[in-house]
Amino acid sequence: MEKYDYKVCAAGRVNIIGEHVDYCGGKVFPAALGFKNTVFVRPNGTNKINLSWTTLDKKVSLDIGKLDEYRDLDYGNYQAGSLLMWQRAGHKIVGCDMLQDCTVPFGSGLSSSAAIEVSTIAAMCAITDTKIDPVAIALEAQRAEREYVGVNCGIMDQYASACGKAKHAMLLDCATLDCEYVPIDTGDCSLVIIDCKKPHNLVESKYNERRGETETALFALQKVTGIKNLAELDAAALEKHKSLLTPAVYNRTKHVVDECARVKAAETAMKECDMVKLGELLNASHASLKDLYEVTGAELDALAAAAQSHPACLGSRMTGGGFGGCTVSIVKTAGLADFKKHVLAEYKRTTGYDAAYYQTDIGDGITVEKL
Ligand code: GLA
Repeated sequence: MEKYDYKVCAAGRVNIIGEHVDYCGGKVFPAALGFKNTVFVRPNGTNKINLSWTTLDKKVSLDIGKLDEYRDLDYGNYQAGSLLMWQRAGHKIVGCDMLQDCTVPFGSGLSSSAAIEVSTIAAMCAITDTKIDPVAIALEAQRAEREYVGVNCGIMDQYASACGKAKHAMLLDCATLDCEYVPIDTGDCSLVIIDCKKPHNLVESKYNERRGETETALFALQKVTGIKNLAELDAAALEKHKSLLTPAVYNRTKHVVDECARVKAAETAMKECDMVKLGELLNASHASLKDLYEVTGAELDALAAAAQSHPACLGSRMTGGGFGGCTVSIVKTAGLADFKKHVLAEYKRTTGYDAAYYQTDIGDGITVEKL
């Protein structure tokens, strides 16, 4: 490989629980993965950012004065968007060569896009002598996703990608960005990630639609309850004011209220290493995402059901935005091999798709290495 100055990484993530509550000001419980986007970077003394990839026979050149113009690129738009937001926030951008190497599976719901955005900004920091501020980077990466890519996402993915810590989950309060690192101690169980491999489609519009429904709910309920975020609502207040919401918006809101309660319970379960309880919470979360929030789809439902039907499995649910992507399951380590065989076969039988079983660990967020 040619010589670069820095090797900068940011992580993909898995969310253990707390789904579709980040943009409602709720707490989420993600962890950064060993799957990463790595950027090898060196300044080139021009006004161009030259992108290349280890896995693609492609080269893209971005003009640092025209970063706004690359929204329609198939490759390079995440890099252009995140660097544009970083530039607009007043930071230095210089011409450079960036070789990108992504091990986060694309379209898997494990936040490959956040890993790309965060690592690209961090790489720019490395060559401009800008102090790495992971939270500031996460916020500009989120802005890129919202204003450049067009997904009106919350902060969970970019935060986890930037601020993750090996062997720890993050209990992140999305209203305040307070974050507590909780050691992942799953005792005699393992966290298992399986990809349903359903091609993504319509994900962005459905995601934005759900977010809009929660905003409708907040607008209606804050007049009568004084809440600032939907996550502050409790179950009693929701029932009291149910008549202000359409049935669909009520269901979305009920998911948010219940999911926030499950995150609280999951925090205790993780701290007490109560995997049976954590498993039950995962199952309940999936059911709510399926029936109330309606973001699962036939494939994720089949994959979660296949996992839940195995005796070594204590619980399983979809993770991430939904409509495709992965499940996360808690499985007795002694039964892992049989669990894997069962789930892959059962999923294939019911859907016709081959699921992918991922082997990774809980890793760090941003890392910078001088080469
Ligand atoms: C996507 C978004 C996140 C979050 C999840 C659902 O991953 O990027 O902000 O809303 O969906 O929990």
